[in-house]
Amino acid sequence: MANQKFGKILFTEEQIANRAKEIAAQIDKDFEGEEVILLCTLKGSILWIGDIMKNLTVKTKLDFISASSYGASKTSSGVVKIKFDPEINMYNANIIVVEDIVDTGNTLKYVLGKLEERGPKCVKVCTMLNKEARRTNDFHADYVGFEIDDLFVIGYGLDFDQKYRDLPYISYLEEDDVDSL
Ligand code: IMP
Ligand code: MG
Repeated sequence: MANQKFGKILFTEEQIANRAKEIAAQIDKDFEGEEVILLCTLKGSILWIGDIMKNLTVKTKLDFISASSYGASKTSSGVVKIKFDPEINMYNANIIVVEDIVDTGNTLKYVLGKLEERGPKCVKVCTMLNKEARRTNDFHADYVGFEIDDLFVIGYGLDFDQKYRDLPYISYLEEDDVDSL
């Protein structure tokens, strides 16, 4: 198994897979007979969006967004950098932004503002993890995999300084871990 030293498991691959099936069923219900555009927020959402997408029965299209407010640090810089792939037409479309984790909500709030400028029919957010206690604005996710405490999580797409995305489960870092990285 990759990066074996992080044995602390917050959510197993199976738990994530099961929760993704439940959420996909909810999305199917909410968008019955319609098409949705899944917007994967790079890079952290790549595994989670696969779990969601393969379980959906509604028609989907896929595109990617890159937005970041974190560098080699565990705290948000507060400045959101954003890059859109302009290929997909969002006008009058049902957009579901698929995110790895919502922390302060800064990134998503900014991204949603930008997406609204493209005239979609609706924009929803499906996040794997939600740190509600850290929210600094009124951002609200529509579909949440798991609510978590104020932990710095890694694995299943989530990184610390671009590392640990390959863990097939969700783990977390504590102060002592950071000293040995
Ligand atoms: P926000 O703008 O503060 O909500 O931060 C959102 C982004 O920060 C997420 O999409 C992640 O990429 C990153 N992030 C926030 N918390 C964590 C964490 O615990 N581990 C890894 N990345 C995180
Ligand atoms: Mg992210």
